[in-house]
Amino acid sequence: MKALFNPIRLRSLEIKNRIVMSPMQQYSAQDGIPNQWHLVHLGSRAVGGAGLIITECTSVAPKGMNTLYDLGIWNDKQVSAWKPIVDFVHQQGSKIAVQLWHAGGKGSSSHPNEGMKPLNEEEGGWVPKSSSNTPIGRHQPEAMNLEEIQRVKVDFVTAAKNAIRAGFDSIEIHAAHGYLFHQFYSELINQRTDQYGGSFENRIRLLVETVEEIRKVISSEMPLLVRLLATDYSDDAKAWTLDNSLQLSKILKEKGVDLITASGGGFVNVDSAIVKPGYQLPFATRIKEETEIKVGTVGMITDALQANAIIESQQSDLIVIARELLRNPYFAINAAMELGENPAIPWQYKRAYQH
Ligand SMILES: Cc1cc2nc3c(=O)[nH]c(=O)nc-3n(C[C@H](O)[C@H](O)[C@H](O)COP(=O)(O)O)c2cc1C
Repeated sequence: MKALFNPIRLRSLEIKNRIVMSPMQQYSAQDGIPNQWHLVHLGSRAVGGAGLIITECTSVAPKGMNTLYDLGIWNDKQVSAWKPIVDFVHQQGSKIAVQLWHAGGKGSSSHPNEGMKPLNEEEGGWVPKSSSNTPIGRHQPEAMNLEEIQRVKVDFVTAAKNAIRAGFDSIEIHAAHGYLFHQFYSELINQRTDQYGGSFENRIRLLVETVEEIRKVISSEMPLLVRLLATDYSDDAKAWTLDNSLQLSKILKEKGVDLITASGGGFVNVDSAIVKPGYQLPFATRIKEETEIKVGTVGMITDALQANAIIESQQSDLIVIARELLRNPYFAINAAMELGENPAIPWQYKRAYQH
């Protein structure tokens, strides 16, 4: 069997192949409730054979959203609407994780079709809260007080419990891309002087405490994933570096995290010249080698041979694909055929493959 199609086990979760649908915000919800768009969007990638589907970033609180059109999992209505989507993905033999997230200082934006401008109160907006008042893009957040920081952890725990009720197989914490956890761990953003700012240990504290709290309420059988920002892609002395990520990954592993996906960007713009096939793979490989934790790699992986070679050479454990899966929801089935495997095709579609 080709390496890309070898199943993988994370705690008790068996994933049938190494192809993962990367989280992709759709800005298509109201009141955080998933709808038919999300069923088709996530469901069709399961029909197409991806082993693990990760939902788009899903907010743990109303003011954790980026726009008013994001998904949520803080209330019962949302949990009920998630259930049929989770069930459908399971019926296709795929597994599904929810990406839990708080946008922090990037919150209160208009819809992308309206330019993602900061919203005022009349437009339904709020004052976004971050580690500090460092501007993030066009946003001018306020610093969270200690009570608000404690509240973030409570919200993540409630959301994790809700994810279990909805039937999700796993949880991924979104700790990258200029959102709340990144706003705390990157010194480019975090200017605090209390126990959540200053030293490395202080800046990673909110993420580490959140991981600890979530681990307490999910089963020891359930894998916990984290999407990290491997580097701030900046030469500034205060920027987050790969060495910082290696140090953090070791701590996260000790706290019960099972897999890290190494990403980048979201605060400092990524120079388009470096965005090449597999450009973030070296980050995942370093984290894997030095931390002995399982990793996912994301970024410009678009072809079956490339994906298989990465798994075969053990540079990464999972291949996390975003835009290529938007173009080609059947990537996994097509990749299997290209690599000479016999893919599991939904019985309803089998006639397309008979001669
Ligand atoms: C439409 C779109 C929405 C995205 N939304 C999310 C998101 O919700 N959470 C996240 O961690 N990354 C998000 N990303 C980043 C992708 O998951 C991925 O890391 C990035 O696109 C690079 O992978 P690719 O080259 O395979 O597209 C998004 C990307 C796109 C294109």
